[in-house]
Amino acid sequence: MRVRLRVNGSWVEVDVEPHETLLNVLRDRLRIRSVKYGCGIGECGSCTVLLNGRPVTSCLVLAAGLDGTSIETADYLAKTELGTRIVNALLLEGAIQCGYCIPGFLVTIYAALKSGMIRRGDSTEIARAISGNICRCTGYINIVKAVRRVVAELVAIGAD
Ligand code: FES
Ligand code: FES
Repeated sequence: MRVRLRVNGSWVEVDVEPHETLLNVLRDRLRIRSVKYGCGIGECGSCTVLLNGRPVTSCLVLAAGLDGTSIETADYLAKTELGTRIVNALLLEGAIQCGYCIPGFLVTIYAALKSGMIRRGDSTEIARAISGNICRCTGYINIVKAVRRVVAELVAIGAD
């Protein structure tokens, strides 16, 4: 069946199989390789994208039901002002090693900051926000530091 999706600001039409996931469509049909295949069962968060502004694990979403929806991926969000801040903070805090998990973290952190799920930047708040994302390399400490850095920057510029 054919679905029409707004992907990273542009409308596209894609023919999808009934069993096909959003992850498949983004990676294999649209060649957006920032969306990572990790576990395929909703456990690792590496495939996280925004669906109508909310983070979802795209490996668990069937594309056939998405006609008319809006999808944003990490590579697109990384070019926004907030996304650039997050990427820079991750780099400055040494929070990236192999990098495989980072697109998913970027989307999750972006959504949590936008929605107010992360507001104060304390450990509990950040841990809750990123609990659906797994990183095998960093041990999370530097990722949490990076989020705190972004929160401090946003406070300093008076952003809501
Ligand atoms: S690949 Fe989707 S949550 Fe792991
Ligand atoms: S940096 Fe390697 S999995 Fe996170």
